[in-house]
Amino acid sequence: MKDKIITAKGLVKSFGVGNAKQTIINNLDLDIYSKDFTIIMGSSGAGKSTLMYLLSGMDKVTKGNIVFKNKDICKMNNDELAVFRRKNCGFVFQQIYMLDKMSLMDNVLTSGLLVNNNKKDIISKAKKLFESVNIPEATYKKNMNQVSGGECQRAGIVRAAINDPTVIFADEPTGALNSENSTAVLDVLTNLNNNGQSIIMVTHDKKSALRGNRIIYLKDGKIFGELSLNIYKENDEERTKKLDDFLKEMGW
Ligand SMILES: Nc1ncnc2c1ncn2[C@@H]1O[C@H](COP(=O)(O)OP(=O)(O)O)[C@@H](O)[C@H]1O
Ligand SMILES: [Mg+2]
Repeated sequence: MKDKIITAKGLVKSFGVGNAKQTIINNLDLDIYSKDFTIIMGSSGAGKSTLMYLLSGMDKVTKGNIVFKNKDICKMNNDELAVFRRKNCGFVFQQIYMLDKMSLMDNVLTSGLLVNNNKKDIISKAKKLFESVNIPEATYKKNMNQVSGGECQRAGIVRAAINDPTVIFADEPTGALNSENSTAVLDVLTNLNNNGQSIIMVTHDKKSALRGNRIIYLKDGKIFGELSLNIYKENDEERTKKLDDFLKEMGW
């Protein structure tokens, strides 16, 4: 049995006040399990990013509670949350931002040293991770503005993974990449997941969604449907059809 790592109950998130009030997440319940590659889908504006921000404690709920590794993160103050996130959450966004006066390696080390002050340890882990995402030393010594978008994105995954987070949260990580770079980034995430890393990925792209083993579909602020898939395999037509049928049923 897989461990439950996040339990969200009665989540509500509204923006604005009075007539302008919009409720984006509306009484949503969700459990997230360890080692899953969970995908969040739904139309644009459905609240996918909002849900991800809530689950990772980046944004505050309007109502409801979120227990993340046995801790109610809704009761934490900002400092406690910052510490909790550093240890438990890795983030990958559509556009990775690295400090551009520093090499990719130094960016990763900076994140690693916030949690573990054994520099030797962090360096050797970073080197392994860079190798696993196919970024050679000559490249990780460069700054963000000297590498390609795909390389930067893969370095972003290294940074997200450096502290062995409980969950890697990825919000449309391939949204700004061409097809070749997208595949490379998805392969990196798939590899991490195969090694036991729990991942929650928001995407509106079927090819990305196929990497997951659990697809959650958001609509009207709630989970409108979900699908379990067996583990990702390339060119698995039956699996692809299952996702196609599900998305059709969801009205995607
Ligand atoms: N900080 C915010 N302030 C006001 N409205 C917001 C904010 N964040 C998101 N929204 C609104 O919530 C809705 C859902 O946004 P989002 O979660 O980004 O959707 P998705 O990621 O599914 O495209 C949108 O209508 C958006 O305008
Ligand atoms: Mg979004």
